Amino acid sequence: MKKFICIFLLVTLLAVLFTGCGESSGSKSTGGKNGEIKVGVALYKFDDTFISTVREAIEKEAKKIEDEEGVKISINAVDGQGQQATQNDQIDTFITQKYDVICVNMVDRTAASVVIDKAKKANIPVVFFNREPVEEDMKKWDKIYYVGAKAEESGTMQGNIIADYWKDNADADKNKDGVLQYVMLEGEPGHQDAILRTEYSIKALEDAGIKTEKLASDTGNWQRAQGQEKMAAWLSAYGDKIEVVFANNDDMALGAIEALKAAGYFQDDKFIPVVGVDATAPALDSLAEFKMFGTVLNDAEGQGQAIIRIAYYLAKGEDPSKSVDDITDGQYKWVPYQPVTKENMNKFKK
Ligand code: GAL
Ligand code: CA
Repeated sequence: MKKFICIFLLVTLLAVLFTGCGESSGSKSTGGKNGEIKVGVALYKFDDTFISTVREAIEKEAKKIEDEEGVKISINAVDGQGQQATQNDQIDTFITQKYDVICVNMVDRTAASVVIDKAKKANIPVVFFNREPVEEDMKKWDKIYYVGAKAEESGTMQGNIIADYWKDNADADKNKDGVLQYVMLEGEPGHQDAILRTEYSIKALEDAGIKTEKLASDTGNWQRAQGQEKMAAWLSAYGDKIEVVFANNDDMALGAIEALKAAGYFQDDKFIPVVGVDATAPALDSLAEFKMFGTVLNDAEGQGQAIIRIAYYLAKGEDPSKSVDDITDGQYKWVPYQPVTKENMNKFKK
């Protein structure tokens, strides 16, 4: 009888130990339900050069986390097609399907409040990126984060690239009036990057003591075709009066370069500096061909890595700032920009 009780106790003890271990290592290594972390990624639209590189970076980094941590991360990226209503439906689906975390690149960044309310109610954390919700919305819940870059910084860098060019090249001032005449291709209206790049690029010139005159500005909605169209129209209106072309991103800058090529620029000695932002692969090629003059690295890789890392820790119920560096004000991860010209462009080639 004694022997029997002993064996019984031993078996019970082992059983307790085993289930205990099983539970703790199980929840640690999986985090999400059913051993898989489900991440919903809502993009404002797939057809955007910079955003597609961010998406690739998210997917690449997720694989890395899978290998490092021995977890399964399944990413479902959806295309908002530039419609906030479509994106809202997609986010609703992520919520009803009980995703562990949602990453959102808003179509309309002022509509973030609705998304936050729904996610909070369902207790699903959200990582916004690229399109910054207003501060008031960000304050609605502590399980929302924003990954992006300081738009002012990119504008200042564009302005400084042009200020250097202006100071180094006596012929830059084509009409010799001591004033820099420029045109500005703007991104989507209301986008923080469009507003701030437009403002800070010119501010940097003025801070460098350069007088400026805006000949024309208009939105090209981040798109190459619209950049080309607007630039062609400005060339017929102002021709050689234009001394510098600013574009809020590389796609529009490349469009402008097409229009300029058609007007005989970048042949013989006919040159005009065009400066963009993003440092996309085609922009770097254009720089190498002495067409685009400068750009600013919008670090898709760094942003993608931060987005999925923060999302992963949130999904596990952990505080991301314990594992991801430089999270400021408890909710923001700022990834720095870098100026790119022909001199340092090889550093950025993939
Ligand atoms: C900007 C980027 C643009 C465009 C936009 C989309 O940061 O420079 O090229 O991708 O985001 O929101
Ligand atoms: Ca001038």
